[in-house]
Amino acid sequence: MQHRRTIRFLLGNELRELTDLDPTLTVLDWLRGAERRLGTKEGCAEGDCGACTVVVGRLVDGVVRYEAINACIRFLATLDGCQLLTVEHLKRPDGTLHPVQQAMVDCHGSQCGFCTPGFVMSLYALYRAEVASPGGVPDEQRIDDALAGNLCRCTGYAPIVAAAQQLRDRTTDHIDEALPTVTRALAALADDAVVETGRDGRRFLAPATVDQLADLVLANPEATIVSGATDVGLWVTKHQKVLPTVIYTGRVAGLARITNRGDALELGAGVTFTAAKAALGGLHPDLDELLRRVGAEQVRNAGTIGGNIANGSPIGDTPPALIALGASLTLRRGTQRRTLPLQDYFLAYGKQDRQSGEFVESVTVPKLGQGDLFAAYKISKRFDQDISALCACFLVTLGDDGLITRARLAYGGMAGTPKRAAAAEAALLGRPWDATAARDAKAALAQDFTPLSDWRASAAYRLAVAGNLLLKFQAESAPGAPATRVLVQRAQAFKAGCDIASRGVCNA
Ligand SMILES: Cc1cc2nc3c(=O)[nH]c(=O)nc-3n(C[C@H](O)[C@H](O)[C@H](O)COP(=O)(O)OP(=O)(O)OC[C@H]3O[C@@H](n4cnc5c(N)ncnc54)[C@H](O)[C@@H]3O)c2cc1C
Ligand code: FES
Ligand code: FES
Repeated sequence: MQHRRTIRFLLGNELRELTDLDPTLTVLDWLRGAERRLGTKEGCAEGDCGACTVVVGRLVDGVVRYEAINACIRFLATLDGCQLLTVEHLKRPDGTLHPVQQAMVDCHGSQCGFCTPGFVMSLYALYRAEVASPGGVPDEQRIDDALAGNLCRCTGYAPIVAAAQQLRDRTTDHIDEALPTVTRALAALADDAVVETGRDGRRFLAPATVDQLADLVLANPEATIVSGATDVGLWVTKHQKVLPTVIYTGRVAGLARITNRGDALELGAGVTFTAAKAALGGLHPDLDELLRRVGAEQVRNAGTIGGNIANGSPIGDTPPALIALGASLTLRRGTQRRTLPLQDYFLAYGKQDRQSGEFVESVTVPKLGQGDLFAAYKISKRFDQDISALCACFLVTLGDDGLITRARLAYGGMAGTPKRAAAAEAALLGRPWDATAARDAKAALAQDFTPLSDWRASAAYRLAVAGNLLLKFQAESAPGAPATRVLVQRAQAFKAGCDIASRGVCNA
């Protein structure tokens, strides 16, 4: 295996080549400490406030794709092969403000200014992605989504949203002008070597292929695998954890692949929430909505499906949905692979069926078939960027005679692991999908779960809501049921005075 000991990336258009890096030095600390670029701010250091938002460009199929991320929880060495843009890069060399900066000025989008660079970078990412053609304008929902990961304590959001709406006519900016050069430079940086850096006996390893990853994980079974670092970053910034060896998966293109297998989608472990949203959202609109509510854009651009499964969290949002759909997980150890039903991976709180030297390679998600009814619900205190108190995902299959032939009811937040409700499922089989069946299943949930009380929700609340969501699912999905759920933009719903349920749904 060929190793390269220099981390190479573009800061703006300038090549940076760094050696002997602290494996968990964050992008934010490097920018503010080593580079003295003080535009990028630290608010929370845990991915919540967006003050540290930067934009990272990386080559995908020969095209530079730009995405907003949180610099506070991203390790610098993971930027190998990328372009890093900070707020300092936006104005032209002659001092002319970038259109997103000018829009913020024109709309009075800033007061104390602490959050402003982060908002500007989120707006810049939106400008790049959405305002692609003259006259193009992102809708309110898209603007809300782009800004949901940025918090402001003093200006209020209306002027900032107004600034986003002002970006209708996208003009060519100086970053566009440099794009051909940047594309060539990034292509020249790409190679198949294992990138290695470190200091003080600690190591950072970034393989480029799945085989290299498999060899490295097998040879270093004690290493911490890092994908998007949206969990691991916080171990470092909040828990001051020292990680002796880090193996980063983000350079492995083969792990970020989504393959359509006809009756199923196979998602590599390195598929980000953003990429998964586009793919899984095509299977059912609730999956699109569920993924839209994982973290905020900065988190979704970094966090991966593999990380969401591998961390074994009882309140991760994708496992309940994938379990309800009947997904299977492929783990790899060296050259050996094994596949198991996803639900069997979660053994107990903090304990997963992963052997030493093994890693999560992919998850295969069956598509919905004839007679399948599906719904996914996320209940959290705050609509955006909040961890679930409860996540409920249901699949019920009806036979030609209208009777239930299959029930997969999966919950997060109800036990120490994401878990199916076996007794409730049994209460449904062989019956018509009606309110009586749903009520019986709701009653059976008490045999399935003894949820905990914590600051997100009490045990009684969790059990009540878990059952009520079953009733809601039945009411919404029973054959011939009138449409009760109208997905609306949150802003419109507020204007209409609707009582918005936690998933942005207005029951009209
Ligand atoms: C502000 C914020 C909001 C969030 N909101 C949500 C939310 O709404 N819903 C939600 O579900 N989560 C949320 N999270 C948590 C986090 O984004 C997810 O758990 C994410 O899926 C973790 O993926 P990652 O790629 O960042 O994993 P990492 O942080 O890189 O790793 C997480 C764990 O998985 C292991 N791991 C990673 N990849 C592999 C692999 N291929 N094989 C084996 N082990 C692996 C790591 O060693 C580590 O133990 C949030 C996080 C933040 C910071
Ligand atoms: S400092 Fe708050 S998200 Fe990074
Ligand atoms: S302008 Fe002060 S925090 Fe946003």
